[in-house]
Amino acid sequence: MEDNELRQAISTAYAKALEAARQGGGGGCCGGTGCCGAGGGTLIELAGYGPERTQHAAVAATSFGCGNPLAFSGVAPGQTVLDLGSGAGFDLLIAAGTVGPTGKVIGVDMTEAMLAAARDNIARAGLESVIEVRQGHIEALPVAEASVDWVISNCVINLSTDKPAVFAEIARVLRPGGRIAISDIVAEDLPPAVVASVAGHAACVSGAIAEAAYLAGLAGAGLVDVAAAERLIYSAGQLRALFGEALGEDLAEAVAGKVASVRFVGRKPE
Ligand SMILES: C[S@@+](CC[C@H](N)C(=O)[O-])C[C@H]1O[C@@H](n2cnc3c(N)ncnc32)[C@H](O)[C@@H]1O
Repeated sequence: MEDNELRQAISTAYAKALEAARQGGGGGCCGGTGCCGAGGGTLIELAGYGPERTQHAAVAATSFGCGNPLAFSGVAPGQTVLDLGSGAGFDLLIAAGTVGPTGKVIGVDMTEAMLAAARDNIARAGLESVIEVRQGHIEALPVAEASVDWVISNCVINLSTDKPAVFAEIARVLRPGGRIAISDIVAEDLPPAVVASVAGHAACVSGAIAEAAYLAGLAGAGLVDVAAAERLIYSAGQLRALFGEALGEDLAEAVAGKVASVRFVGRKPE
């Protein structure tokens, strides 16, 4: 499958998953129940959110994250935060609460349905003056050079077929001294059947790279002090929630212990 076709398949999968999550079911993007933890799935519960989940309960139900990138991040009032693949906007709302009225939060996503949902959620929260969402690709961000203090992202970069371009874009848009807080899926030695699965790709597993390759990619783009601050290795049961029926019992067992959610940190040199 060509890169553009895969990107289109991912976008379609997330538009469908959003609709399913809104109707109270689990995300359906991989034919399963969870898809990176869509509302009601178990993985959002593992993601490490605290009171934010109840504060923004309706939006949390349409979250497809696999971590809590803003946890312990040190984002401060007045700063600018950019969220790559911002989805329906759960992390945007949390970031806006931290940067306050003098700060700015920008979300970039390629899926029109996600952008529309995010705009609704932002308006409902009365945060239009703080949060802006832009349609675009994380491989070519519609964001000015050296313009943001933080790049955050939650379960998105694994979906990109050009991760070096994403890492280079992160380094480009960060101000000198700017920092990253990225939650994402990493994987080691996936069976070929999983790697080849488009549903598995949309479910955030098949496109995942190893943690060491991720760290090397961030460092290769010029970021320093890059590290895995936190790691949750998924069990077979948790993977079944992630992939649902698309994975099946055997493959869930086969990839157990090989797939993890990691929170990456790092900064652009001054
Ligand atoms: C797993 S969901 C995560 C959404 C959000 N970060 C959250 O935590 O709920 C992946 C999101 O990334 C977006 N996405 C995937 N690949 C993308 C790309 N190459 N450029 C821009 N957005 C992308 C999808 O449209 C989707 O909204």
